[in-house]
Amino acid sequence: MPDFGLITDTHLISMIRPIMPQVLLTLFQQPGNAAATLRERVCSTLRSAIHSGALSAGQRLPSSRLLAADLQVSRVTTEAAYAQLETEGYPQRRVGQGTFVAIRINKPAAVRKVAGQLRLSQRGKTILQTSGCRDPQQPLPFAAGSPDLRAFPLKLWKQLTAQQLRVNGEKLLRYGDPQGYLPLREAIAGYVGQTRGVNCDAQQVIVLTSSQQALQLIATLLLDQGDRVWMEEPGYLGARNAFTSAGAKLTPVNIDEAGLRPDSSLPVPRLVYLTPAHHYPTGVALSLERRLALLEMARREQSWIIEDDYDSEFHYDGQPMPAMQSQDRHGNVLYLGTFSKTLFPSLRLAYLIVPPELVSAFSTARTLYDGHSAQLMQAVTAEFIQQGHFAAHIRYMRQLYRSRRDWLLTQVEQRLPAFATAQPANGGLQLAVWLPHGQEANLTRQAQQLGVITPGLSALFMTPQARRDGWLLGFSALTPGEISAAVERLSKIVRD
Ligand SMILES: Cc1ncc(COP(=O)(O)O)c(C=O)c1O
Repeated sequence: MPDFGLITDTHLISMIRPIMPQVLLTLFQQPGNAAATLRERVCSTLRSAIHSGALSAGQRLPSSRLLAADLQVSRVTTEAAYAQLETEGYPQRRVGQGTFVAIRINKPAAVRKVAGQLRLSQRGKTILQTSGCRDPQQPLPFAAGSPDLRAFPLKLWKQLTAQQLRVNGEKLLRYGDPQGYLPLREAIAGYVGQTRGVNCDAQQVIVLTSSQQALQLIATLLLDQGDRVWMEEPGYLGARNAFTSAGAKLTPVNIDEAGLRPDSSLPVPRLVYLTPAHHYPTGVALSLERRLALLEMARREQSWIIEDDYDSEFHYDGQPMPAMQSQDRHGNVLYLGTFSKTLFPSLRLAYLIVPPELVSAFSTARTLYDGHSAQLMQAVTAEFIQQGHFAAHIRYMRQLYRSRRDWLLTQVEQRLPAFATAQPANGGLQLAVWLPHGQEANLTRQAQQLGVITPGLSALFMTPQARRDGWLLGFSALTPGEISAAVERLSKIVRD
């Protein structure tokens, strides 16, 4: 029999073997020990044996020849494994004596662990308690707030992407400006100036991944623990949770047909969060009188106003009022817009327009979050706007969404009169529908059983006594046929 370096006389081996080969053999054969090469498998076997205490400091290891025989690998492999392990400091080879374990692994002390508790900071615990803010990943009926991506001009987007890679490729692969890609900031400043009357130049625009990132940055930079924030009641959970996570004290302020109703008996806020164009979730517009009163309060009290203009592009009846920021003479308004609704949500691009003195604080904070948004997508978006495609796309989508809103409204009024009362709005991507008191949970459960998602309205109220039952039905991503089919299913629901 040819000798390939394997020892075949097992009787002799057991006489001189310095350790229990079975331990190594078991570790070597474990299914989890499937390293890329045989040499690495031998290495990880010996490392595991040393770390687990099966081999202790000073203990003699089998010669490479014996180990090869035990593990049924070639001696070349065990030699290479020993050489590798020696560079890592596990064994020491002494000439004429053998190979010994060189490293002492201390037995770990018992872990001090409080059962069932995550090791989070207080801030981490607060964030977890808010449950965050999740957006629907599928445009199923009636998930709220999704644009219709079937109508997105993908071919054009692909062409612009290829063009940007061709023209600016190498430049777009580098690190970018934390404030945002300049051509995009210029395009945004031009767009919001023309369409929303926003007073700004590109120096005040900060490009972010989302409105949510903007809200989190605002909470971090402008709010201290215990600072007072006025929130619309009902209001946007993403904003509520961002401010809560910063330790702010939230004051719910009621909404009526003219939007948020300021009240001088309420504690003076450090910050007011508003959705003035279309209140989230009811779609009511904030009246001019209230806007001016809030701007005056902000001037007097040195409060910040956050104007979340998340869907003002989709205004269907008449002209929307200009942004509040356009009436701010004292630099108290931070204006927030997003491409999640106008282009597509996974683009992860939004913009925050801040008074000049805040620019550097926001840019610096951004460097500690994620640095900047993806350069390539910023460049493509800038081109899309500059070449006029953005305005055309919005005009087209506005028509489409208006007809869908009208269709859903008619369907709800005609087919769900037994339990649903729609609150028509001049704009937006979703329709608020009020339900009989105490019925939301039951009706939502039934809708779910019929395969229809009906996001609840009651959770958007902070005060339990103010809570009203209802649904927020997203219509923008659904064709009239899909809307009818889903409403048809809801019409099968029975009230208690
Ligand atoms: C009130 C409000 N603001 C902002 C957004 C947009 O969010 P983002 O830019 O984080 O995708 C939404 C999305 O549903 C919203 O409802």
